[in-house]
Amino acid sequence: MPETLTPTRGSFAAWLEACGRQVEPALERACRSTSLALGPAKLRQAVSHALLSGGKRVRPALALLACEAHGGAAELALPGAVACEMVHAYSLVHDDLPCMDDDVLRRGLPTVHVAFGEATAVLAGDALLGLAFEVLAAQPDAATARDQAGLLAAAAGPAGMVGGQQLDLEAEGRALDVAGVAAIHAAKTAALLAVSLQLGARAAGADPAAWTAYAGAVGRLFQATDDLLDATRTTAELGKTAGKDAAHGKATLVSALGLEAAGRAAQDLGREARAALEDLPIERHRGLLADLPDYLLNRCR
Ligand code: IPE
Ligand code: IPE
Ligand code: MG
Ligand code: MG
Ligand code: MG
Repeated sequence: MPETLTPTRGSFAAWLEACGRQVEPALERACRSTSLALGPAKLRQAVSHALLSGGKRVRPALALLACEAHGGAAELALPGAVACEMVHAYSLVHDDLPCMDDDVLRRGLPTVHVAFGEATAVLAGDALLGLAFEVLAAQPDAATARDQAGLLAAAAGPAGMVGGQQLDLEAEGRALDVAGVAAIHAAKTAALLAVSLQLGARAAGADPAAWTAYAGAVGRLFQATDDLLDATRTTAELGKTAGKDAAHGKATLVSALGLEAAGRAAQDLGREARAALEDLPIERHRGLLADLPDYLLNRCR
């Protein structure tokens, strides 16, 4: 049996911290070992700013967790983990652009377009998307690379993250009901969160489809708590501008339900995730996967 990163019992927060020690160097290595190293200096700096400027690294941690849950060594999941974080970083760079959410602060730092200009920010996002697939393609096992590339492309694309961002923009200034908001959350955020778990499962040779229910609920819970944090925390706590959803007329769980009911809806998603966990055919880490909804419900950034 491979070594586990942390004991099976323990909090997701501790898992996240342990994963960071593998994930941060892997992200740095990926910047050096891919075609990024051959790109123009300003583009390299913008990509580094987007990818290596911190962040909780939840998606990579989920990839490693699912891989170990099926008995695989965490290292096997690193390419998928890095690829998901690259797509996530690209999504944030574009999400912050003036033509989208128009944000100047991310992870306590100026956003990429503030630091490097709008055109370079667009290109840095484009670069990260390509690099994600370069990382997957470099894996020795061709079937793993092919399957993971297909899953990640679907999750990132028109039926997933990008489609969800389109719906999010179209919903600005409109009063969506909770089902409308849930559909946006499922596409813009849950798809990429979910595929992080699924790439980890595939790295261990397991069937990613088994994760659909659990991963979908966790993914929607992630955006539910992001909406709640935007309405309840300060800019200093978040490292990104607080209260911007209301200021931009965004359709969020909070705008649809109000704060209290939005909190209850998030709790419901946590219960949905824990129920789905029972059906997962995994060998270990049930404790961590059961703790993940609580970590998300209690996070403060
Ligand atoms: C923020 O994601 C954007 C959403 C999809 C809600 P994270 O909360 O994972 O951001 P970082 O990576 O930790 O900065
Ligand atoms: C972003 O949702 C989802 C993405 C696909 C990037 P938000 O717009 O709420 O994310 P933040 O609050 O800016 O991080
Ligand atoms: Mg947005
Ligand atoms: Mg935003
Ligand atoms: Mg938000």
